[in-house]
Amino acid sequence: DAGEHDSFMRKEMLEQPSAAERVLRGRLDERFGTGHLGGLDMDARETRAIKRVKILGCGSAYYVGQMGASLVEELARIPADAEAASEFRYRNPVIEPDTLYVAVSQSGETIDTLLAVQEIRRKGGRVIGLVNVVGSAIARECDGGIYLHAGPEVAVASTKALTNMFLGFALLALQLGRVRDLSIADGKRLIAGLSRLPEQIQEILDGEEALAALATDLAGAESLFFVGRVRGFPVAREGAQKFKEISYRHAEAYQTSELKHGPLALISPEVPTIAIVPADELTDRNVAALHEIAARGGPLVVLTHADVDLGEVPCRRIDVPRSERELDPILLTIPLQLLAFHAAQVLGHDIDKPRNLAKSVTVE
Ligand code: BG6
Repeated sequence: DAGEHDSFMRKEMLEQPSAAERVLRGRLDERFGTGHLGGLDMDARETRAIKRVKILGCGSAYYVGQMGASLVEELARIPADAEAASEFRYRNPVIEPDTLYVAVSQSGETIDTLLAVQEIRRKGGRVIGLVNVVGSAIARECDGGIYLHAGPEVAVASTKALTNMFLGFALLALQLGRVRDLSIADGKRLIAGLSRLPEQIQEILDGEEALAALATDLAGAESLFFVGRVRGFPVAREGAQKFKEISYRHAEAYQTSELKHGPLALISPEVPTIAIVPADELTDRNVAALHEIAARGGPLVVLTHADVDLGEVPCRRIDVPRSERELDPILLTIPLQLLAFHAAQVLGHDIDKPRNLAKSVTVE
């Protein structure tokens, strides 16, 4: 049972620092600034031959897959994208021998992801798995992989497994990057950043009270936007997913840059926006978009870093500890778990078993 905790989701959120340590343990090569992933089963020549990375998963695994695709593109400079595994097989996909396919799944039993893996292998492609449950169907079907070591996850809404998926992708991207053009200095910078993450996750969890207060206000809204750009967009998608899954409020994710091409028409004092605004090359543009929202009376919650100047924008600000820019998405994701959790709790919902959902969907 959830022990002293009122729900498995809360227990699993609080386990994230130790779960993160487990997925990193023995996999950080500080000397060469690279990841050490024994289960990939690929030599340096095979690794260098990869021309593209295609990531497949469902639900939260799909959104963290988008974060993973950014990591691979940024660190390894290999074109990468994520796709919903539930759609993949139905468009008769072209399977390429020099593409590395990556299946992401907490349970390792999600039928849509499993069928995607089987389709790729039937057509001669190589698939690796990022899977939490050892010996699960997807893990068995893959050519190799990275176990996530998050420990059992019971709540339908994935938290610690999702965080470890991100870390798994970071290790993979680092390893792919270091056999290509990623410098040893950058490799070491990222290794140091990864080692600091468990402590930074703890820092976010320690700020739970302020997030709970904010969630109480957000729970009253019928509809919310979650917005972010580039690295921040999958964070927004995952944030909206969590919010709708357990609070049953309509939460929609959008690229901040696309707001003006449609959804701005919906912004009003009744529709809060949760904006992801990290300190990066897009900060100024993101802040300009906040002004657009504020000018229409839209209430704003901004997840940002302490050194970001938001100017005069009226908002509730959440400062998230800053990591290396490539790793920031996972730290920005964690406060969104807490927001969704506390909103659902205020609304009195069954947090671990949201209506109409199952932890792993094993029928098509
Ligand atoms: C969904 C769950 O059906 O399956 C999501 O509701 C989950 O929370 C998704 O992210 C994928 O599950 P898994 O086990 O493949 O990661």
